[in-house]
Amino acid sequence: MIPPKPAARPDRVSLWRYIKLFRQDILSAQPARLYRAKMAEFRTPFFRSYLLNQPDLVKTVLKERPMDFPKSGRISEGLRPLLGNSVFLTNGATWQRQRRIIDPAFEGGRLRETYPAMWAAAQSALDRLSAQAGQDVEVEEIASHAAADVIFRTLFSIPIEDETAQEVFHEFRAYQRTQPILNLAAFIPVPRWMPRFFRRDTKAAARRIRTLITRLTEARLAAIKAGTAPDDLATKIMTTRDPETGQGFTAEEMVDQVAIFFLAGHETSASALGWALYLMATHPEWQEKVATEAQALRTCAFSDISKLRVSRDVFREALRLYPPVPMMVREATCPERFRNRDIPKGSQMVLSPWHLHRHEGLWDNPDGFDPGRWQTENGKTCGREAYIPFSAGPRVCTGAGFAMVEGVLLLSLLLRDLRVTPVAGKVPVPEAHLTVRAKDGIWLKVDRR
Ligand code: HEM
Repeated sequence: MIPPKPAARPDRVSLWRYIKLFRQDILSAQPARLYRAKMAEFRTPFFRSYLLNQPDLVKTVLKERPMDFPKSGRISEGLRPLLGNSVFLTNGATWQRQRRIIDPAFEGGRLRETYPAMWAAAQSALDRLSAQAGQDVEVEEIASHAAADVIFRTLFSIPIEDETAQEVFHEFRAYQRTQPILNLAAFIPVPRWMPRFFRRDTKAAARRIRTLITRLTEARLAAIKAGTAPDDLATKIMTTRDPETGQGFTAEEMVDQVAIFFLAGHETSASALGWALYLMATHPEWQEKVATEAQALRTCAFSDISKLRVSRDVFREALRLYPPVPMMVREATCPERFRNRDIPKGSQMVLSPWHLHRHEGLWDNPDGFDPGRWQTENGKTCGREAYIPFSAGPRVCTGAGFAMVEGVLLLSLLLRDLRVTPVAGKVPVPEAHLTVRAKDGIWLKVDRR
């Protein structure tokens, strides 16, 4: 069974029709030829966009010359009210300084220390889902709850049941519903000089979230001063000094960073887990393999994660078919020449994990679900060259290692005790919101094993 993919639009449509389609969904607005193209140009009256779909071009932009292709201001603006000056939005020296302070909190050794909090969150998710055994369940909601719990426990040592955590979680959900699709600005022909208007409810939701996060960070600052702070990610980040300047984050900067950890860390992981569970329901032979392997998972031992090989291959395959961040946008700061075409300064460079991961000229069986591919020559080569669910280069996702442990653990622990099967008539249609989500959620029947 081929996993669901959005229907592509015809190759030629008018600009206005294109914009209309885009507003509905960025994935189905694309023509089918992008699954075969190496590069595609989109001309608007004010700027040009180029979708780069060839491994060496992606490598140039992300790995070899990232400073020449900073994050596009067109995209950042939509998130500014919520994320302020967070590491996700900054460029140049500010961004470098922020990464020097944040990266140590996510190094390999720290993951082991973070693991008990992740385990506790996974155990709670299992308890909650077990309570719904025998029913049809919307698993995106379950996955969001679980991923938010992981972030609160690892960052601030509080479970999702905590009152402030609950409030932040609900406010984020409200925020997402008001937030237009992020990457739209890379394609929609709005000149830069035109003022951008944020919807009033988007701004209000952002303000409420920041007030709640400020409360959490201020309490933590006080606990650090009093010597009573727990040894979690927030304490680590708030006490790390930049090795080059000796400065740490100010309280205001820390609010920006916490906002992005929460957003980048829970929306993405939730999207990946939801799709992974759907793929398990539709591929029972793989589900049984994951469940059998997971029987060994009984206590909170970090070393168990490296033994969950099937689960890891399944999760990687879910990230290939449904990359939570379907597109990323950079801006060319100088004129370029790519594939014999002149790229003007200021062009929007679109990197699309969605298209690269399903490229017909690169992958064997590009639309099929086959976790076994990672052991094949083609899978290994494409894994190195055409697989970027976490981006690549110096700006790679800070939480990539964290997310791979979290995803594999949650998938394994849930399937150790539970079985998921599809619900008749409910095939999820992928759509790009803040991350790749199913149009009407992902419905699965959940039973105890
Ligand atoms: C399956 C889960 C995840 C996926 C697929 C994912 C994917 C990504 C991608 C593609 C980017 C680059 C975006 C761009 O350049 O436009 C990114 C950046 C980032 N991610 Fe993740 N992420 C995941 C989980 C996490 C987690 C768990 C955390 C933190 C706890 C996190 C924190 C960040 C941060 C801080 C950045 C900004 C890095 C920078 O710009 O320097 N992510 N993520």
